Amino acid sequence: MCGIVGCFSPENCYEKLYSALTRLEYRGYDSAGIALLSAEGRFSVRKKKGGVASIAGEPLPGETGIGHTRWATHGAPSDGNAHPHLCGKFALVHNGIVENEAALRAELLAAGEQFLSETDSELIVRLIARAYRGDFFAAVASACARLEGSYAVAVLCADFPGEIVCARRGSPLVAGAGGGALYVCSDVPALCGAAEYICPAEDGEFVVIRGGKIGFCRADGTPIPKIFTRVRASARPRAVQAGSRMQAEIAEIPRALSDTLASLRDADFSCCRTAFRSAKRLLAVGCGTAYHAALCLRAVLEESGVFLSCRPASEAAGLCAGAGDLLIAVSQSGETADTLAAARAARERGAFVLAVTNVGQSSLASLAHCTAVMCAGPEIAVAATKSYNCQLLSLYFLAARILACRMGVPPAWAGDLAALPAAAERAFGCFPAVDSLAEALVGARGMYFLGRGADVATAREGALKVKEIAYLAAEGLPAGELKHGPLALVEDGFPVALLATVRSLARKCEAAAAEVAARGGRVALFSQYGEVLASSRAAYRIRLPAVAEALMPAVSVIPLQYFACRLCLLRGLDPDRPRNLAKSVTVE
Ligand code: M6R
Repeated sequence: MCGIVGCFSPENCYEKLYSALTRLEYRGYDSAGIALLSAEGRFSVRKKKGGVASIAGEPLPGETGIGHTRWATHGAPSDGNAHPHLCGKFALVHNGIVENEAALRAELLAAGEQFLSETDSELIVRLIARAYRGDFFAAVASACARLEGSYAVAVLCADFPGEIVCARRGSPLVAGAGGGALYVCSDVPALCGAAEYICPAEDGEFVVIRGGKIGFCRADGTPIPKIFTRVRASARPRAVQAGSRMQAEIAEIPRALSDTLASLRDADFSCCRTAFRSAKRLLAVGCGTAYHAALCLRAVLEESGVFLSCRPASEAAGLCAGAGDLLIAVSQSGETADTLAAARAARERGAFVLAVTNVGQSSLASLAHCTAVMCAGPEIAVAATKSYNCQLLSLYFLAARILACRMGVPPAWAGDLAALPAAAERAFGCFPAVDSLAEALVGARGMYFLGRGADVATAREGALKVKEIAYLAAEGLPAGELKHGPLALVEDGFPVALLATVRSLARKCEAAAAEVAARGGRVALFSQYGEVLASSRAAYRIRLPAVAEALMPAVSVIPLQYFACRLCLLRGLDPDRPRNLAKSVTVE
């Protein structure tokens, strides 16, 4: 989704804003823009279609500024639709969606306003300009009161150099201070390395930078006391020496897993004990990759006879989570609108909400009863990699607690969690074989990923990765479903990645390999079992490292993540910035 940033700094304000924007770019790269306000009340604006580099240039003058990276929703990516939007004495950046756009636009048009862009965001700056009677804050508050939908806005007013007024409802906003500057921003990682102290805003709150200070207040101006916390060093993105962010993030998986395990062991989940032991229903939600992690949780619990209902968060209404239920909400960012909506609805109906997230100060963490914070470190590439492995580790850790509470003893594999970081490291040994596979499949137009049991979730995740960054039509399926329709697409050379990591299901997986091979399809088999690989008809055999079967999805996905990345690079694409996507999806 879009990223917004605001900065007050008597020195190098432009440089600080620009640098924050580069760290925010993963939220959208359709266009970028920046507006600086000088002490004399003059705006300098630069905005353009394209990524943040498109607005690089001479520093703009001013001590106060706002910036934006856009993921287009209303109106095509273009210079005209780029933020900041200006009207009269105001400049505004916005992340979110104005749902009553049509009614507000009709009203403003009838009042004689002329729009310069196709965006819903421009409505807001026009509402502010019309509401202005000399009180900057009151104008912003009154415009926000008219909005339906979600927003985080940062606004400048030419009459008040040195001030920024921001508001949040439904879209993330965090305040920060450090290095002689004050900041507001869409998320914590973008402030890392710049702000030393941060404090997230809650829905309905305003953040105001004024007189060299930053504070929170309500719509009526009443101040809200807040405590700023120090930014954890691990929240800072590491520099990438060479290659893509995605490659660097895959390389970080072993470290991310050991940090996550150490932090989970230190965490206190005692408040979850009643829910773990006696929740009427166990439910889990997430989106995209996070949903696949939830599917793995289901598989590992079902293996022990404990049933978990699992849905993509956007379809969670059907779960009807309520009093007596435990809802586990999984989200790397903790800001995904669908996941937040599902968690909020469950909590309102009386369910116990347990969040699993990579951002301890996220909206999801603040609405959950309890949070398992992973320590994957900032994940910047749009395609989730290391966060998925850490989600799986966290969910397995929680599954071990749930099973111990329900069965009286922890599952046999609980002691093997500590082996995951080393197994992940050994999975890198598959990469040369995966390189050859990617080279062989570079011209493919579609492919299947198949598996059985917990491997189905891994197959889905593998397919999502290649769709997302290599733009290959891919489907992840239960291997047994192949013969019920999908086999029709298999012809000479059609590629199929087959996961066979559950020994008891390996024979049935081989049946799928035979069905594909008989139609001329090319099977790439992934298994940790030498005899399964040796007896297969697969054209490519990739030996995975051994680890407890129940935990295998956290390891077997690594060659698939790497495969997608290699395929993408071989196709001349940028793995970090896939078209049409953004890292954090903060609209439903
Ligand atoms: O931040 P979240 O984990 O809530 O994000 C959910 C999905 O948008 C995300 O996992 C998406 O599917 C990834 N880009 C896939 O690589």
